[in-house]
Amino acid sequence: MGAQAVETRAAEIVLEVRGLTKVFGSGDAAFTAVDGIDLTVRRGELVIIMGPSGSGKTTLLTLIGSLLKPTSGTVHINGLDVTAMKESALPEVRRHSVGFIFQSYNLLESLTAVENVEVVLNLAGGGGRTDAVKAEQLLTDLGMGHRLHFKPRDLSGGEKQRVSVARGLANDPELILADEPTANLDSKHGPEIVLLLRAVAKELGRAAVVVSHDARIQELADRILWLEDGRFKDNPGLAVAPAEEKTTEV
Ligand SMILES: Nc1ncnc2c1ncn2[C@@H]1O[C@H](COP(=O)(O)OP(=O)(O)OP(=O)(O)O)[C@@H](O)[C@H]1O
Ligand SMILES: [Mg+2]
Repeated sequence: MGAQAVETRAAEIVLEVRGLTKVFGSGDAAFTAVDGIDLTVRRGELVIIMGPSGSGKTTLLTLIGSLLKPTSGTVHINGLDVTAMKESALPEVRRHSVGFIFQSYNLLESLTAVENVEVVLNLAGGGGRTDAVKAEQLLTDLGMGHRLHFKPRDLSGGEKQRVSVARGLANDPELILADEPTANLDSKHGPEIVLLLRAVAKELGRAAVVVSHDARIQELADRILWLEDGRFKDNPGLAVAPAEEKTTEV
């Protein structure tokens, strides 16, 4: 029974990061951007990572998503050690298990919004009409039903961001990695996107790691982690800002 309990607990873990380190450059120019990070994220969890510019947030996400090779440390996704896998096996993991939402959108300029989402579904081995229907549904859920056939150049920053979110969610990934997904969105659409990521985590049993500077979405997180100089610190970022303190103290 004991063994079974351990097995069930282990199955809940979607992401397990141990001692993850990235050093850019070498010799005198060596710079440690991510410095021995440990992180465990379970099914149903939404974790937000905050921290100053240059603290290593994007580097950490790209390491977790195996877009970048760590200097040392391990990343397990659904129990699979992706840091030990051959380069040639990684695209398969990325297509099926990990959904990325980048701040830079990563949209294909020659394709419409709906085609940009469809192409992700096609790559994962879907096909034809079902992909089109699913892509339309996802975009409509994200409030983009009236922009399905627009090309990226005709979309606003916030609209492009929503297409990028739809791409990240298209394959029903176990693990969603989002780098500042609300940066170009207003006070209505920003929290909406994170609410959607939260619903995906809770209702579909996925795990989400979201990098954000956005104070509006903090309350939606199960955990907030503060990254500084490539390491997690106790949450100084959550303390009341001095300016706010002054106005409330008067
Ligand atoms: N390819 C690279 N070569 C050398 N240094 C790099 C490289 N990529 C990132 N860095 C450095 O690593 C540090 C962390 O960068 P990173 O992009 O992870 O920061 P960030 O926390 O995402 O910042 P921001 O909030 O501005 O997006 C920075 O000092 C950056 O200049
Ligand atoms: Mg960044």
